[in-house]
Amino acid sequence: MNDQIKRIGVLTSGGDAPGMNAAVRAVVRTAVGQGIECIGIRRGWSGLITGDFVRLDGTSVSRIINRGGTMLYTARCKEFMDHEGREKAIATCKLLGLDSIVAIGGDGTFRGALDLSRQVAEHGARLSVVGIPATIDNDIGCSHYTIGFDSACNTAIECIDKLRDTMQSHERCSVVEVMGRHAGYLALYVGIAVGATAVLIPERPVDFENDVVENIRRARLAGTTHYMVVVAEGAGNVYDFAAQIKEALGIDPRVTVLGHIQRGGTPSARDRETASRMGYAAVKALVQQKGNRIIASVNGHIEDLDMEEALTMTKQFQMERYDILEALTNNSISHF
Ligand code: F6P
Repeated sequence: MNDQIKRIGVLTSGGDAPGMNAAVRAVVRTAVGQGIECIGIRRGWSGLITGDFVRLDGTSVSRIINRGGTMLYTARCKEFMDHEGREKAIATCKLLGLDSIVAIGGDGTFRGALDLSRQVAEHGARLSVVGIPATIDNDIGCSHYTIGFDSACNTAIECIDKLRDTMQSHERCSVVEVMGRHAGYLALYVGIAVGATAVLIPERPVDFENDVVENIRRARLAGTTHYMVVVAEGAGNVYDFAAQIKEALGIDPRVTVLGHIQRGGTPSARDRETASRMGYAAVKALVQQKGNRIIASVNGHIEDLDMEEALTMTKQFQMERYDILEALTNNSISHF
C-alpha cells in the first residue's frame, strides 16, 4: 500500500494510436492494485482545463484492451500551451486532488506535461508527471518504439496489399502516401514489408531519377508490369511525385492517400503488450517517487527516463533499412 501518491489523472492527447486503451487499462489496474485512485481526464489537456473527467476503476477498463482509438477521447489543445491555459488546468488538479498525471501521447504531450509540472512548482506545490509514448509515427527521440506503430504498419500493409491486386491486374503504378508527420519510419517499414519499388522518406534527400525512375525501369526490365511507390507524407507532395513519374516514364500512376485509416483498428499483439508494460512502469515510477519521467522502450527493455533529459534525446534513423529495401526489391548491391 502506497501512502504518497493518492490520485492519478490519466489522459490521452494528440493523435490517437492503437494501444492507447491498453495503456489506460494498465495504468488504472496497476494503480488500483496499489490502492491509488485513478481519474480519467477526457479530451486530453483540454479536458484538464475544462474539468472533463471520469472516475475509473478496474472494471471500467474491462474489454478495452482490444479496442482501437481511445476511450478517453483525445484532442490537440492550443490553450494548454499558454501559461493562462495551464493555470486553469492547475485549478482542476487542485479541485480533484490530483497529485500526478500519466499522459499518453507524443512529444508535444510530454512537453505540455513538463510545463504543467514546472508551473505547479512555481505555486510551491508538486505534481508528478509521467509520459507514455503513443503515436503511429514512432518519432519520439528517447524511445525506440511508440505504442501504435506496429498496428499502423499492419493496417497500411493490408491496404497496400489490396492496392497491389488491382495495380497488378491493370499493370499500373501506384503511388501511396502513408502518414508519419516529419518522420519516415512508417513509410520505410511498410515499404520493406510490401516489397515497394521505391520509398521516399524525409530523412533521405529525394534523388528522383535514381530512386524512383531508375527503380521502376529496373523493375520493368526484370519483367514486372506494376509498381508500388510508397511516399512518407513528410517527403513531399504525392501528386507531384505521380506527375513526375508520368512525365519521366510515360506511365499513368494512381495516387492513394491512406490517411487516418492508419490510426484505426484493433491494436496488434506488440502494441497491447508494450502498452501494458509501459502503463505498469508508469505507475511503478510514480509509486517509487521518481519525479517527472518518460517511459521508454530501450532495446526492447522498458525504462523510465528523466523527462527533461529524455525530451532532448534524438534517435538515429536506421538508414540501413533503406539499403535493405534496395537490396531486396531492386537487387542493388549492398556495400557492407
Ligand atoms: O501524429 C500522428 C498523425 O497521424 C501524423 O502521422 C499525421 O501527420 C497527423 O497525426 C494528422 O493529424 P490530424 O489527426 O490532426 O489530422
